[in-house]
Amino acid sequence: MTKAKNFPLHADLETVLVSEKDIKKRVKKLGAEIATAYGDEEITVVSIINGAIFFTADLLREIPNPVRLDCIRISSYRNDTKSVGQPKLLQSLTLDIANRHVLLIDDILDTGKTFSSVANMLKKLNPASLHTCVLLDKRGRREVEFEADFVGFEIPDKFAVGYGLDFAERYRNLPCIGVLKPNLQNPPEWA
Ligand code: IMP
Ligand code: MG
Repeated sequence: MTKAKNFPLHADLETVLVSEKDIKKRVKKLGAEIATAYGDEEITVVSIINGAIFFTADLLREIPNPVRLDCIRISSYRNDTKSVGQPKLLQSLTLDIANRHVLLIDDILDTGKTFSSVANMLKKLNPASLHTCVLLDKRGRREVEFEADFVGFEIPDKFAVGYGLDFAERYRNLPCIGVLKPNLQNPPEWA
């Protein structure tokens, strides 16, 4: 077997932004906030994969309400240096969300383009209500006006990895959220 270069993963971090312990504590609280907001209603969760996989799995286990889960996949417009067009839907819903209470979940709210375009798309399907939940919010980076209803943590304008967030599909399985050492980042792609 060839030896992986980035081993162990956490050694690639320059700083930890949110510890594993703090994630667990906040996810528990967020679950309680969401449960209070929905009362005894059933929730139809739409999770944006891959980024929100870890967060969604942990959060939903903190919510006592009946939950239906669906996942969608959105194209990353970020690697495309030429066009900054609308994010595209690569994998669509399988559940019917008409007249359902929908909670849209993503890993991070950055420019706001992904969340606002997915929210607009879901609204056209006539849900009874639509709320949004995000693990991380980089408020200073917004290009499209958008606020999530439930936010885990506000973080500074740094490229974050871990707990679902990736850099070139790696680091999702880090149990904390951190910033990569500068020599491991690729600024032109993310500038
Ligand atoms: P937005 O459309 O600019 O709000 O970006 C949202 C998407 O960009 C997220 O779903 C992430 O996939 C990705 N993204 C934005 N910032 C980061 C980051 O700091 N780390 C990893 N992915 C990020
Ligand atoms: Mg994502």
